This record gives sequence, C-alpha cells and structure tokens, in this order.
Amino acid sequence: MKEIGNWQYKNFFIHHFDKIESTNDLAISLLNNRQVFSNEIILANQQNKGRGRYNRQWVSEVGNLYFSLILDGKIANKNLGLNQISTLSLVANIALNLTIKKISQAQNIALNISNKWPNDLLINDNKVAGILLENIIVNNNCEFIILGIGVNISNNPDNTSFQSTNLQKLKIAIDTRSLLESFLDNFSNFFTIWQNFGFKNLRDLWLRDAYNLHKEIFVGDLESRIGGVFEDLDELGNLILKTPDKTIKISAGDVLNPEKN
Ligand code: BTN
Repeated sequence: MKEIGNWQYKNFFIHHFDKIESTNDLAISLLNNRQVFSNEIILANQQNKGRGRYNRQWVSEVGNLYFSLILDGKIANKNLGLNQISTLSLVANIALNLTIKKISQAQNIALNISNKWPNDLLINDNKVAGILLENIIVNNNCEFIILGIGVNISNNPDNTSFQSTNLQKLKIAIDTRSLLESFLDNFSNFFTIWQNFGFKNLRDLWLRDAYNLHKEIFVGDLESRIGGVFEDLDELGNLILKTPDKTIKISAGDVLNPEKN
C-alpha cells in the first residue's frame, strides 16, 4: 500500500493514502508490523471497507474525512486503568464538536451541534460524524489506541438507521486537511486533561451538548433495546437511564432514532 503523501503537523505525522480498505485496519496492520507508532495518523480519500461500530458498514466515498489517529495506550493505561480507555471516544467527540462549532461560528452559521451517546456528532439532529475506537491489548496492557473518525464533509449515505447529513449541505466550507488539523489542535488539549484526570473532568463538557438529555430515549445494541429517561453519564461514560421501574447503567449500545422505535 503506497502513500500519496505525508506531512508533519505539530507533534503528529500524517500518512496520506488514496483508496484503501479501512484506515483503522491499515493502522492495526502497520502497528502489528511495527511500521507506525503513536501520534501517527492514517488518512484516506476513500475506503472500500470502512467500518462503523458493531461492524456496520461506513460508506466512504471521496470528499469526506476518514482517518485513524494512533495513541499511546501505555500512558493512559498506567495512569487511568483499562476501564477508562473507552471514554477516549467521548473525549474525541467533545473535540470534534468544538472543532465544528468554531468553524461554523467563524463562517457565521448557526447550528445546533449535539453529542449522541456514546460518540456520534449530530448537527440539527442529523449524524455528521462517527468514531470507532479500537485497542491493541497485550497481556492485559493497552499498547495502542486507534481512534478512527469519519466526518461527512461533502456527502452522506441515504437510508441510514439514524438520519445523516454533511457539512456542505449545511453551507459549511472546509477541506479535509484543515478539518483534520483543527481537530488535532482541540483533541491534544482534551487528551492532556484526560491523561491526567480521566473522563470525570470532561464529563460536563460532553453533557453540555448531549442529545436528548433528560428526555425519553431508546437505547439499544444489536440484540435489545430499552426505553427510559436519559438522566446522566457516569465517570466512565456509561449512560444512566431511568426506566419505569429502576435506574440502570448502560455501558454499550446507541441512542436510537426516536422515529424508528
Ligand atoms: C460509527 O459511527 O459507527 C463509527 C464510524 C467510524 C468511521 C471511521 S472512518 C475512519 C475509520 N476507519 C474505519 O474503517 N472506520 C473509521
């Protein structure tokens, strides 16, 4: 697989590819061969086998942003413990939210940007970005974290289970490189906080823009779904749901489309 270019941005190094299967898959295979390390990024113009959470397909046509950021899992693991690793996807969600908020404000475009649990970015209640966090764990130690992010800049698929949109439709003008670099700036700041304190110091930031907080929602995974009021998030990013008979903690799943449930 040949790069079409590469460059350094601050303390990150970006490997740019044209069409590949999946930036997460390539990051994992290069990591296993010791060909890339932390703070390196796999960026692609298109993906043939873009993956979403629960192995769903992530349609990846040219014109959108598709990248995987490799992070050092050892530091996080040592300071915070393995159970905090998954909260990093919510941290990326906060950084992406702020990035798009700043870009839209600079262009005088008013948008309702929200975070749909656990880590989807919505604009005006339509999904515009998704995050897929994967780890390389060896002997119960997290060696690397792969943060895969897709942002719909110029196109979005039809017929998704949750309605979607793209930045161009919303009149936001941005190219993939500027969006990636702005994200890296914002993410670096939040990552430092996260490494020192964990998700608890960032939870309020996530909640500030939470989609349907204190409202009736349905949460589900591939097997089941449950309805209740979205009360809160705990320090590990679990969703606290008040159902008619008890309050429960949900660690995996998605907040579902209210119209399809
Ligand atoms: C989701 O919402 O289910 C997560 C979508 C994550 C998509 C990105 S695109 C870049 C990276 N490579 C992949 O194959 N998936 C992630």
